[in-house]
Amino acid sequence: MEFWTPPSGPPQGSPPSKEIYALMGEEPIFAMCRDFYERLAASSIGHMFPADQGEASEKLACFLVGLFGGPPLFHQRYGSPQMRARHLPFVIDQAARREWLRCFEATLENAEDRFGFPSAHLPRFRGFLSEFSAWMVNREG
Ligand code: HEM
Repeated sequence: MEFWTPPSGPPQGSPPSKEIYALMGEEPIFAMCRDFYERLAASSIGHMFPADQGEASEKLACFLVGLFGGPPLFHQRYGSPQMRARHLPFVIDQAARREWLRCFEATLENAEDRFGFPSAHLPRFRGFLSEFSAWMVNREG
């Protein structure tokens, strides 16, 4: 199977601030990911995700905990992240990426009130999501 590789290559921008974990705490990060996965399930790419969203949303939460400066939960529980390789079994084109980002955008609305996400750190996190999701795309078009 031939996969399309984004010509822009792996993300070059800055990752989210490592201060976020200490400011939010662990459970709100898990709650934010549950909210996101509920939106994904109801979206036009809902069919890509398992009916039981529990584990899938926890995997993302573990990844974000590490990224936000907390313990490396994803690595500890599931091994090396290798995110692009883990996404290759799924057909991800730009339309799928846009829908994924739209769902995350909805989760991030009022994220300070709902999950204690520090607003000052939102722009860089949004930038990261945009760039990192571009790297997950594996089909042209
Ligand atoms: C470009 C849009 C994206 C789409 C359409 C997408 C889709 C998917 C799908 C279908 C799965 C497998 C779900 C399952 O069967 O459990 C998955 C897993 C995952 N995704 Fe994404 N994803 C995207 C971007 C991202 C980004 C940007 C991140 C990180 C910020 C991310 C983090 C993860 C993680 C941590 C997993 C679990 C990996 C594993 O199975 O071990 N995804 N994604």
